[in-house]
Amino acid sequence: MAYKEGGDFYPKDENGKVIFSDVDYVDTWKALEDCVDEGLVRNIGVSNFSSKQIQRILDVARIKPQLNQVECHLHLSNSKLHNYCQENGIVLQAYGPLGSPGNKSEPPPRCLEEPVLLEIAKAKNKSPAQVNLRFLLQRGLSVVPKSVRPQRIQENFQIYDFELSPEEMKLLLDLNKDYRFKTQEAAKDHKYYTFNDPF
Ligand SMILES: NC(=O)c1ccc[n+]([C@@H]2O[C@H](COP(=O)([O-])OP(=O)(O)OC[C@H]3O[C@@H](n4cnc5c(N)ncnc54)[C@H](OP(=O)(O)O)[C@@H]3O)[C@@H](O)[C@H]2O)c1
Repeated sequence: MAYKEGGDFYPKDENGKVIFSDVDYVDTWKALEDCVDEGLVRNIGVSNFSSKQIQRILDVARIKPQLNQVECHLHLSNSKLHNYCQENGIVLQAYGPLGSPGNKSEPPPRCLEEPVLLEIAKAKNKSPAQVNLRFLLQRGLSVVPKSVRPQRIQENFQIYDFELSPEEMKLLLDLNKDYRFKTQEAAKDHKYYTFNDPF
C-alpha cells in the first residue's frame, strides 16, 4: 500500500492519522515493470507481502518479483510464506533478522538471548548474532541486519566459515513463536493490510 499521493512523504490528517492511498498495488507493480522496460531499474521486488498478495501479482505479471522482504527472525520463522516464495522462485529476505535487539517490546528471552542460541554459539566459538544470521542463511533466506558499529557490521559478515548441523537447525527453528514486532498498526484499517492474511 502507498501513502496518499501529493506533497508530503508521510501525510497525516488533523488527528495525526496517516493517510493512505487506495491505489491497487497490482497497478503499482505494472508501473514498476515499465521502469524495468525503460532501464530505470534492474530488479524489482516487494516487501511485507502475503502469499495472497504475491499471487495477485503473479497472476498478471510480465516480470515476477525477485524478492519479498519481510520481518523474519528466530521468533518469527515465516515458514509457510518461505515455502510459497521458494515454490515460485522468489527470494525471501529477512529484515529485523536479529530480532531488533534495541526494541524492548518483546518479553525476554529476546532472540539473541535464547539459551539454545547461546549454547550453539559457545560451541561454535561464534557470537549469537553470527549463529542467528547463519541459521537464516542456511534456511535459504537472504538477510539485512543493521548496525551503526563498524565492528558489528564486520562481525555480521563473518558467517561463511562455519555450518550448522541439521539438529542445530531444528533446535533453532523450534524457537519460532510467530512473534511479530512490526505490525504496521497505522495501516490496520486499510483494505490491503497484509497481516490479516494467514501467511
Ligand atoms: N521492509 C520493511 O518494512 C522494513 C521494516 C523494518 C526494517 N527494515 C530493514 O531491516 C533492517 C534491519 O532491521 P532492524 O534494525 O529492525 O533489526 P535488526 O537488524 O534485527 O537489529 C538491529 C539492531 O541489532 C543490533 N546489532 C546489530 N548487529 C549486532 C550484533 N552482531 N550483535 C548484537 N547486536 C547487534 C544493532 O545495534 P547497533 O546499531 O548499536 O550495533 C541494532 O540495534 C533495517 O535497516 C531496515 O532497512 C525493513
